[in-house]
Amino acid sequence: MLALLIAALISVVVFAQKGVDPEVLKRGYSIYKENCSMCHKEKANLWDFLKARMSVLSGRRPENIDAPPMNLVSARIKEFYPTELEFVEFVKDYITNPSKSKGVCKPAAYAFFGTMPPIGQGMSEEEKEAVAKWMYYNYTDIWNDLFKRVKELQKKVESKKGSSS
Ligand code: HEC
Repeated sequence: MLALLIAALISVVVFAQKGVDPEVLKRGYSIYKENCSMCHKEKANLWDFLKARMSVLSGRRPENIDAPPMNLVSARIKEFYPTELEFVEFVKDYITNPSKSKGVCKPAAYAFFGTMPPIGQGMSEEEKEAVAKWMYYNYTDIWNDLFKRVKELQKKVESKKGSSS
């Protein structure tokens, strides 16, 4: 009984902090797994990001992925649509009617992977809402910060290469 009460309290606190029902996030994650994970990796670390960046800079399609990883997509969209409301609206609309002209990814994403399929057309409003909220709340990455860090890593790698030759 006490354990239940504590569990309930914790979920209320988490809910209040994040402004979102944890059940919605769980639901969003399972929708991601089912409908998005075959193309979007859940998370790219800085090395994955650098590898993809080096491929793109040398005009090659990044290996082993079919779309930008979800933490990068989430961070990128927050640059343009920072509030939950705008973010969720953007994602719901984009996955239903994707087009390069309204997209906010880097041009290389469309060039190497193509525009994503309108996968949202087969999904309910509730499913789209849940997956969009999950994308918003599951990640804390900040685009400019990631981009700065990947460029620093690139410099380090390149100066190592330079000094060994
Ligand atoms: C068949 C592969 C594929 C699937 C499945 C897929 N995507 Fe994508 N997605 C892509 C590609 C490729 C891009 C980059 C090009 C683009 O933005 O259209 C992308 C980009 C995006 C973007 C960024 C839009 C922009 O350009 O600003 C969002 C948001 C997104 N996907 C959400 C989702 C969600 C949510 C799901 C699951 C419900 C999903 N995707 C399923 C391939 C896919």
